[in-house]
Amino acid sequence: MSQMMKACLVDESNNLYWGEVEKPACGSDELLVRVHATAVNRADLQQKEGTYPVPPGASPILGLEMAGTIEEKGELVTDWNIGDRVMALLSGGGYAQYVVIKADTAIRVPEELHLEQAASIPEVYLTSYLNMIQLGGLSSGERVLIHAAASGVGTASIQLAKTVGAQVYATAGSNEKIEAVKELGADLAIAYKEQSFRDIVLKETGGHGVELVLDPIGAAYWQDNMEVLALDGRMVLYGTMGGSKIDQVDLMPAMLKRIHLIASTLRGLPHERKVALKNEFEERVMPKFRSGEMIPVIDSVYEPFEVNEAHARMKSNQNIGKLVVRVPSPK
Ligand SMILES: NC(=O)c1ccc[n+]([C@@H]2O[C@H](COP(=O)([O-])OP(=O)(O)OC[C@H]3O[C@@H](n4cnc5c(N)ncnc54)[C@H](OP(=O)(O)O)[C@@H]3O)[C@@H](O)[C@H]2O)c1
Repeated sequence: MSQMMKACLVDESNNLYWGEVEKPACGSDELLVRVHATAVNRADLQQKEGTYPVPPGASPILGLEMAGTIEEKGELVTDWNIGDRVMALLSGGGYAQYVVIKADTAIRVPEELHLEQAASIPEVYLTSYLNMIQLGGLSSGERVLIHAAASGVGTASIQLAKTVGAQVYATAGSNEKIEAVKELGADLAIAYKEQSFRDIVLKETGGHGVELVLDPIGAAYWQDNMEVLALDGRMVLYGTMGGSKIDQVDLMPAMLKRIHLIASTLRGLPHERKVALKNEFEERVMPKFRSGEMIPVIDSVYEPFEVNEAHARMKSNQNIGKLVVRVPSPK
């Protein structure tokens, strides 16, 4: 007879509640993880409302990341032990007491981090590492413009950009967020609702512009992004919070500046690419969490029964960094 577990489900009014579902079974190259905490991502809000298609084969349960302890391992798994603390990027299923992951996607949680911190790391730091370092090629001395800089991905990106020695220009929507991004190391923080980021970046750089733009906004920022990019500049588009359609686009500025436009989605990457990304991240970035050079930015930690409040806080753009949700403990 199949065993049951608690998982966060969506009711007809799009509210979340903890219901009973079948506990997943562990395959030969997999780990069954008892989830201690998960974290909220923008995609969860859309998936809950039925506007984000779940990739084929992914769990229909929300949750793109988690941290917990290994409860069971497949017979082919040799490098993990029962009880080890792990975190992982998921294609779904994090809002549950148990999740099954491929063993090669697990990241060991160092003793310096607690599991709530670990749960906040995979999605935003791997997104940032992929976009800014692997695809964007940011290097020391370059200037990067990070939009929505107080977001989960934004705060991770500021930290990573500073570790490579880049100069960070950041946009954010409130005074509190401006202070937070400066605290994290942004060299210049722009209150984009009050000032034109285009004007400020061009003034600060003497008209030169920035070598890299990290953009989760899309249509609303397209024109100004083209104007603040330097010759041969790169832009990584990884979200469309400001719309995905532009009525009249003049492609000439992009042509004349020889702009490299890179669009990126982490969730849809094939398994082998996610594993390669995770391995590089583990080698190059995880030591910075152990040394304290980088600390995950957590806005708030919620109890399981407060999961709807966590979603409401993200939906109203209030969070600075990540929203973590504890998962109910099995009896
Ligand atoms: N492509 C990928 O692989 C990938 C992976 C992870 C996340 N993402 C995307 O990255 C984005 C950020 O995710 P996150 O989890 O870090 O988000 P988050 O923590 O929820 O922060 C998002 C912030 O963006 C700002 N914002 C929202 N709508 C805006 C608009 N129309 N114009 C300007 N700013 C706006 C708000 O901050 P202000 O108060 O500063 O306006 C908001 O708090 C989302 O679009 C998400 O879907 C993509």
